[in-house]
Amino acid sequence: MRISVFGCGYLGAVHAASMAELGHDVVGVDVDAAKIAALGEGHAPFFEPGLPDLLERGVRSRRLRFSTDPADAADAEVHFLAVGTPQSEESGAADLRYVDAAVEAIAAIVRPGALVAGKSTVPVGTAARLAPILEARGAKLAWNPEFLREGFAIEDTLRPDRLVYGVSDDADAAVLDEVYATAIEAGTPRIVTDYATAELVKVSANAFLATKISFINAMAEISEATGADVTSLADAIGLDARIGRRFLNAGVGFGGGCLPKDIRAFQARADELGVGESLHFLREVDAINLRRRQRVVDVAAELLDGDVAGKRIAVLGLAFKPDSDDVRDSPALDVAARLSALGADVVATDPEAIGPALRRVADLATAPTVEEAARDADLVVLLTEWREYRDLEPERLGAVTRGRRIIDGRNVLQPQAWRNAGWEYRGLGR
Ligand code: UGA
Repeated sequence: MRISVFGCGYLGAVHAASMAELGHDVVGVDVDAAKIAALGEGHAPFFEPGLPDLLERGVRSRRLRFSTDPADAADAEVHFLAVGTPQSEESGAADLRYVDAAVEAIAAIVRPGALVAGKSTVPVGTAARLAPILEARGAKLAWNPEFLREGFAIEDTLRPDRLVYGVSDDADAAVLDEVYATAIEAGTPRIVTDYATAELVKVSANAFLATKISFINAMAEISEATGADVTSLADAIGLDARIGRRFLNAGVGFGGGCLPKDIRAFQARADELGVGESLHFLREVDAINLRRRQRVVDVAAELLDGDVAGKRIAVLGLAFKPDSDDVRDSPALDVAARLSALGADVVATDPEAIGPALRRVADLATAPTVEEAARDADLVVLLTEWREYRDLEPERLGAVTRGRRIIDGRNVLQPQAWRNAGWEYRGLGR
């Protein structure tokens, strides 16, 4: 099929490359000329495992092109809308200016009979507001939310666990079936529904995941007050199939470009709709999450005789999660900045996210390797569970640090192994 993707950020670039991989003829459109130039040469503008290969293959096969000119997308049968919906500073609501601009741009070039499929995460009611703009041009709108996880984005796009189509007409579902024929033949469940439900599926899924994480982090707080171990607790309750162990990892909490902003935008939308009370619990979810960052700072002070000022602290991890260079609302970067603000001599490292972190916190001291970050450190703080940090050997790390003190902000190390090597080990809620 002839496909366009408007917006070539995280979601759009992955979607465009994946659609080309499935055999479609794809053009990605974005207003950012530098990004379009890089993508056009097959270069990924951010770190995502597998994406460079896919881009290169797509571009080489000529099934994948990029352009800053919407007119280059005019003959597409399906236009995907994949622009960002950032959080507004004042209200926490989603800022829809990029969605509105992209719909205007598509409306100006769309051919009658084409389908526009929204993938961006939007407040419920957005699709119903936009549909008439496209219908006036003889085109249709569907809402087809995306559930990809950073770090697994290609896999999640090529082999999703479900497809959700919000449509105003069942015939539009058939068009999306053609786009996703490979996944459908593989048995991927598909839910065809109305616009509002499709929009809500996306935000409620993220709200549920955020709640699950904050639930276990609340149990971590209780565990800290009682001497219980939240990791064993999660293992035990997770064995109940109704609960499930995934997304029950207590630690420094959730961050990234989705969960934090989505729960805030969802609350703002519920307030507008006069049903704010239904989502009041998401304020608690947010508050529990943010408290975990301060908890790490407090434990650091405890381990360093009450004051972090003037102490050398190695921070391992800056990305909001491993296998990503994304530092948007990253708990790790936030903790590093809080410790620095208290006068600690912080040196941070990350396998991929140092560049993006420095673009946000310019005066952050960084080092390219764990050894360099940890040299002469009084305390090591692990905040993003990259494989290489999970596999750290206590003796080898202890050979370069000044003190043997470690905070395991993701509860991924074996406490006994570290204690046996003379480390003062502190997890969160263990
Ligand atoms: C999230 C959702 O998982 C995706 O399904 C969704 O498509 C995406 O947002 C989106 O809206 O675009 P992502 O932001 O890539 O994906 O990251 P997650 O894997 O959900 O992790 C979010 C945060 O939660 C990370 O900071 C992670 O460290 C933290 N987390 C996750 C925990 O603290 N504990 C856990 O048990 C799991």
